[in-house]
Amino acid sequence: MSLCIQTSPCSGLRGSCVVPGDKSISHRAAILGSIADGISRVSNFLPGADCLATVAVMRSLDVAIEVNTDGDLVVHGVGLHGLRAPSAPLDCANSGTTMRLMAGLLSGQEFSSQLTGTPQLLGRPMSRVVNPLFKMGAHIESTEGKGPLSIQGIEPGNPGLKGIRYAMPVASAQLKSCLLLAGLYADGPSTILEIGPSRDHTERMLSAMGASIVRDTDRVVITPPDAGLAPFNMAVPGDMSSAAFLLTAGAIVPGSEITIGNVGVNPTRFGIVSALNQMGAAIDITNPRDVGGEPVADLRVGHSTLSSATFGGDSIVAMIDELPVLAVAATQAHGTTVIRDARELRVKETDRIACTAAELNRLGARITPLEDGMAIEGPTPLRGTEVKSHGDHRLAMLLTIAGLVATGRTNVQKTEVTADSFPGFEACLTDLGAPIQVVRT
Ligand code: S3P
Repeated sequence: MSLCIQTSPCSGLRGSCVVPGDKSISHRAAILGSIADGISRVSNFLPGADCLATVAVMRSLDVAIEVNTDGDLVVHGVGLHGLRAPSAPLDCANSGTTMRLMAGLLSGQEFSSQLTGTPQLLGRPMSRVVNPLFKMGAHIESTEGKGPLSIQGIEPGNPGLKGIRYAMPVASAQLKSCLLLAGLYADGPSTILEIGPSRDHTERMLSAMGASIVRDTDRVVITPPDAGLAPFNMAVPGDMSSAAFLLTAGAIVPGSEITIGNVGVNPTRFGIVSALNQMGAAIDITNPRDVGGEPVADLRVGHSTLSSATFGGDSIVAMIDELPVLAVAATQAHGTTVIRDARELRVKETDRIACTAAELNRLGARITPLEDGMAIEGPTPLRGTEVKSHGDHRLAMLLTIAGLVATGRTNVQKTEVTADSFPGFEACLTDLGAPIQVVRT
């Protein structure tokens, strides 16, 4: 059984909504709560498939975690040295964040483990984490640079992990977080040099838990704690990556005016708002506040006349997951929008350069895939037809948004994956007045 979203032309999205909790922060809350000394309570946890895979992995390491569908999570932290050997390979499902962050955490343990997942996950590059962990002295083996990953426990009495100084070859928060987690178990400080300002949720949470994290513009230094890490209470902000679909829809669907409440506006995640603003979208940021160490605000967007823009360099990492939906906005903007320096899009859940270009072009878009990005001509009238998600949640959602400005009917196939990051996506759009229907196929 599979789901299909059918869309028709939309005459305007109106009203207020909230988006589910941030995926990156939810993963980190489950992992860091597990190694805290005591009980952490988290509200608005994202109960999507990827974050639930992290919860299942932590449970297999003997951590008691309660989670309900409203997003209340209670993690009974066992401390830095309280995890126990799993009885079977740890299933990361389709989640790259789970596999990469857990590779770091498990490299510092005294027991052996194996990380595995879906064929889609096992096709993604893992040498980026394996190489530096190996330098730290971890006994970790990949399968030709990919998962499954086998991690041999550090035998009591043998030297553990060594602190390193490591210049990351890619701007990746998953790699940085993997090394910070391994750094908690090292014999001294580790310095991680970044080539771009990737999301910093791990640093913020570890600091709040009492870890020694020193940050500069291009580096993070972590010193292993003498004592344990403090548990926390937190409310996860709404996910900017989910809000991006609504921001784009609000900007391109004529007659729209919507407010998205409680969105995380951490500067390392703000790229999509800046990019849409640069293209001429009217986005107001109201009610800014701090929630548990993360900046949060309400975002109001209205239909706008958009112009093309060029994006590259350091701005890319702050909107890496939002670039495919930015391409939808670009199909409706005047001029040719160019996105460069985004090669990482090729190794996400799918090759998001190839798949975004191919599927949007089926709707009549004029997108040229580039080795490290896309060139998108606009404004281009889109025509409804059948398109597919390739099993990628972000592709399913961006095609739905494109369908709202396409003539006739758009059928987006295999949309059950929207729940990976945005459970309730379809209901949220319907509440705002989008003419969409979900049918079983
Ligand atoms: C994430 C980091 C990014 C992002 C992913 C979530 C994280 O991946 O694309 O959706 O939670 O750290 P990379 O670190 O591979 O760029």
